[in-house]
Amino acid sequence: VKIPDLPTPALVVDLDRVERNLARMADKTTGRGRALRPHFKTSKMIEVARLQVEGGAVGLTCATDRELEALLAGGIESVLWAHQPVGREKAELAVEANRHAEVMIALDSLESARAVAERAVERDVVVPYLIEVDTGMRRAGVRPGDAGGLAAALRDLPGLRPLGVMTHEGHVQRHVGEPEVLLAAAEAAWGRLLDAARSYEEAGQKPEVVSTGATSAALLGKFADGITEVRPGTYVFLDANQVAVGSTGWDDCAVTVLTRVVSHNRPGFPIIDAGLKEFSGDRYAAGSGHGHVPELGALVEPVYEEHGVLSGGRAGELRVGDVVRAVPNHVCGAVNMWSQAAVVRGDEVVAEWRTVGRR
Ligand SMILES: Cc1ncc(COP(=O)(O)O)c(C=O)c1O
Repeated sequence: VKIPDLPTPALVVDLDRVERNLARMADKTTGRGRALRPHFKTSKMIEVARLQVEGGAVGLTCATDRELEALLAGGIESVLWAHQPVGREKAELAVEANRHAEVMIALDSLESARAVAERAVERDVVVPYLIEVDTGMRRAGVRPGDAGGLAAALRDLPGLRPLGVMTHEGHVQRHVGEPEVLLAAAEAAWGRLLDAARSYEEAGQKPEVVSTGATSAALLGKFADGITEVRPGTYVFLDANQVAVGSTGWDDCAVTVLTRVVSHNRPGFPIIDAGLKEFSGDRYAAGSGHGHVPELGALVEPVYEEHGVLSGGRAGELRVGDVVRAVPNHVCGAVNMWSQAAVVRGDEVVAEWRTVGRR
C-alpha cells in the first residue's frame, strides 16, 4: 500500500524521519554524557518507546496513570511518572508499579508524599522520587530555593527513596521566532534547576539525578554542567510549533495528517476532511493555525469538529478530491486524537502502530 491509497483522514508517521530525530537527540544527550529519558506523551506508541530504549534511552517519562500502565505492559522497565500521584488510585499505582519495575514519581509537597509513603510501608515497597521544581513555567513544583526544605522534610518518611530534582522548562516555547531569546530563557531555567540542586545538597545529600526536558531547548542549547538527565518528548515527531520557535525545519517533521479536499465553493478556502478531532484544539504559537501544509504554504485554520479550512499560500489551487499532508501544530495533542497511525518509509506503508494509554 502506498500513501495515496490510504483512506483519509489518516495519521502518517514517517519512519526515516523518526530515526533521524532519534539519532539527533541521542547525539545531544547520551553522546554528551547525559541520560536520555524521552517523554511518552508525544508518541503514545510502544514501538516508538522501544526504538528510544534501543537507541540508548535509560527509560521513559510519562504524565498520566494510563501512560504508565501502557509503558509497563509494553515491557519498559524504568519510568519517571512526572506528575503528582495524588488521590487513592494514583498513590496505589505508584506503589504497586514498583513491584515489577523502577517507577520514579514527582513530588512537590509533604501531603502528596505522605499518602504514597504510608502505602509503600504497608506493602514493603520503596518508591523512588524526584522533587519537582518550578523554574518559570508556573505549573507544579516548588521554588528552587525551597527544594532543600522539602528534601529535609521528606527524608524522614520511610518507604520513599530520594533521587534528586527535576523540572520542565516548557515556558521557553512562548518565544516564537526568537531562538536566541528562547535559549537564554532555557539557560535561566537550567540555572534555577541547579540552584535547586544546591539547595537540595545543602539539606544533606547530593542529588543523583538533576533532570530537565523540553525539545526546543534541547535542540538549540548545550546543557549546563550538573544536569544529568534530559526528557524531551516532541523531538521524536516534531511539529509546526517547533518550526515556529526555530528549533527545527519542515523536513524533520515526522507526523502528518493525510487529508482530502471534500468541498471548495468559496474560492481560496478549500474544506478538508480533518478538523478539531484530527488535529486537536491546541494552537499555542500565535497565528500558526492547527496545522500547516508546507508545500503549499497553507494553514489549517479555522477548524470545526470534522471539517478544516485551508487558507493562505496556494490553498486556492486545490480541487475537490485532492489529497494533502498537514503537519499538526502541536503533535502531542494531535496523536492523542488517534487510535492508530500508518507508518511509512518514503511512499510505502510498512506498518500500522496503535496508540496506547489514552483516556
Ligand atoms: C514533565 C515534562 N517533561 C518533559 C516534557 C517534554 O517536553 P517537550 O515535548 O517540549 O520535549 C514535558 C512536556 O510537556 C513535560 O511536561
